[in-house]
Amino acid sequence: MGAFEVWPGPMEGVGRGGFIAAVNQLKLVPRWMTPFFRVSHELPRRRKLETFLLPFLAADVPVCVQLMGTEPELIGCAAREFVQMGAESVNLNFGCPSRQVSSGGAGGGALRHPEKLASFCRTVKAALPENIPLSVKMRAGWEDENEMDTLFQEVISSGVVSKIFFHYRTVKELYSVQPVEVRLSRVYRAVKLCRSIPLIANGDISSVTEAQELVSASGCAGVMIARPWLRDPYLLRRFDDASVPDAVSGRERFFAELKERALPEGALIELALMLWGRDSAQFKQLIAGKRG
Ligand SMILES: Cc1cc2nc3c(=O)[nH]c(=O)nc-3n(C[C@H](O)[C@H](O)[C@H](O)COP(=O)(O)O)c2cc1C
Repeated sequence: MGAFEVWPGPMEGVGRGGFIAAVNQLKLVPRWMTPFFRVSHELPRRRKLETFLLPFLAADVPVCVQLMGTEPELIGCAAREFVQMGAESVNLNFGCPSRQVSSGGAGGGALRHPEKLASFCRTVKAALPENIPLSVKMRAGWEDENEMDTLFQEVISSGVVSKIFFHYRTVKELYSVQPVEVRLSRVYRAVKLCRSIPLIANGDISSVTEAQELVSASGCAGVMIARPWLRDPYLLRRFDDASVPDAVSGRERFFAELKERALPEGALIELALMLWGRDSAQFKQLIAGKRG
């Protein structure tokens, strides 16, 4: 098996400020995809766009900026500005399951109208310089995996999407636990539907071995890892360097780095929860400290 791409999964609400700086300092990612930047009814001021993007650009790794919304013209304008600031590629979020987002047709809500996907992608791509790649991040469907055929066909028929990031669950499945065979069969099917467009598989991939097995079984072009990466902060680095810290010491190193960053106490507690879990001594200690 040749080399394949490894991406950190975007995590809105987690991936900001001091967190990004700590990740950059420890060189934990080979590239970034930002969490979604939501564009609603008007183009945000440049200052707001800069505040969002600049922390990611501080590291010397390529940055893909992710956008979300229902108005492709506005999203195209914002994307163009992000590119002027230094984003190397643009991604559209067609997967966010939050009810607040998807009920209005943004994020995962876009999957309820497959017939609009191709023109959405074309409009955004037309706003970008020709050399800037456009990708999408999508789920297997709104409520049923059998939607995959139509969804992939529509996205691909746009002719402007150069990569597809695929979280194997449907929007309705949220983050529910699924048998491992479900992931493999959906990723396999997605790769076939993509034909020559590279597919990056996402969802519950928690080790290098598991990623390698998924790549060789499905033919996908790479993997994206979000929550398991937080539980094992050196996981993405381990694909190139087996000698990096293991999950236990990696969490300690990363958390020490986070503490240097003057994060609000609430944000630190939230990160401890994601790193170690609710039953961990580390999390309980922080909560006790807050109460005391
Ligand atoms: C707290 C949180 C925030 C997320 N924010 C985003 C986001 O901004 N954009 C996006 O495409 N996916 C987002 N996701 C989804 C993840 O990128 C990923 O697709 C999902 O967690 C499944 O992958 P995993 O099992 O590796 O975590 C988020 C997930 C979590 C848990």
